[in-house]
Amino acid sequence: MVIQTFRTVQDMRTQVTAWKATGLRVGLVPTMGNLHAGHIALVKAALAQTDRVITTIFINPTQFGANEDLDSYPHTEAADSEQVADAGGHAMFIPSSAEMYPAGFSTRVIVDGLTDCLCGAARPGHMDGVSQVVTKLLNQAHADVAFFGEKDWQQLTVIKRLARDLDIETEICGVPTVRDAYGLALSSRNGYLNAEEVDIARKLNVILKKAAYDIAAGGFAIDECMKAAKALMKAGFSGVDYVECRDADTLELLDRSEGRSCRIFAAVHVGPARLIDNHLVN
Ligand code: PAJ
Repeated sequence: MVIQTFRTVQDMRTQVTAWKATGLRVGLVPTMGNLHAGHIALVKAALAQTDRVITTIFINPTQFGANEDLDSYPHTEAADSEQVADAGGHAMFIPSSAEMYPAGFSTRVIVDGLTDCLCGAARPGHMDGVSQVVTKLLNQAHADVAFFGEKDWQQLTVIKRLARDLDIETEICGVPTVRDAYGLALSSRNGYLNAEEVDIARKLNVILKKAAYDIAAGGFAIDECMKAAKALMKAGFSGVDYVECRDADTLELLDRSEGRSCRIFAAVHVGPARLIDNHLVN
């Protein structure tokens, strides 16, 4: 199926303006492409809440560190567009780097506090790059609602904050994490793993779920549970960037869960991939 594809901000805006003029609600799904069922869940959530859905693909260079996978990040535009069309999406926005960052571009967007921890600390500059590109995409599209995955909980939290702080009118909507049959959160980076590494990767959600259960139902102290989870992760994974229990909204580090909505966050390395996940403490 062929889907309408915009390459310039102006072309996308003309269409959004036309849709809105007839009373249609517009949804936006920002991605870096290489789409899987997790991304398509965002498209479907958008279709359920809005009348016209634009999916964006832009592998944003400003959110990758010098030694990260920007150069090897998969470019699968044709297959991605087909998946979105099959799901019922209405249009793609696939800008070039020059369209997004024209010569002389010099504005940064920094969300203080929320970006000092977790992936913000482990990947310096990453959250600033995300904030910058998402601010641009939200301003470019003027959609009614934009959809982001709970898999990247810190990213979702940062985006909600910047939209509020900068008076961006687009509503930010979180979508639950899509997992495989073993609970592994779907991720474009799972594609870097061989079969043996996938088996290891599948342990991440099991360890997080157990820690969440021990805190919520077992009454164990958070720091003990985090130590135990870290020991299990160190035994299976080649590296552990963090495993921490934090307030779900403020991302403050917690040593007691009572009365707080909290989540356990982890980032680990397996084979060539760095994987993240998070789990609610119920
Ligand atoms: P990307 O990794 O391509 O993810 C695009 C969106 O899909 C994000 O909102 C992410 O949280 C969501 N997503 C990924 N895997 C998911 C899963 N298993 N279940 C549910 N949602 C999932 O995240 C980015 O791109 C970029 O940082 C971006 C926001 C596009 C800015 O460049």
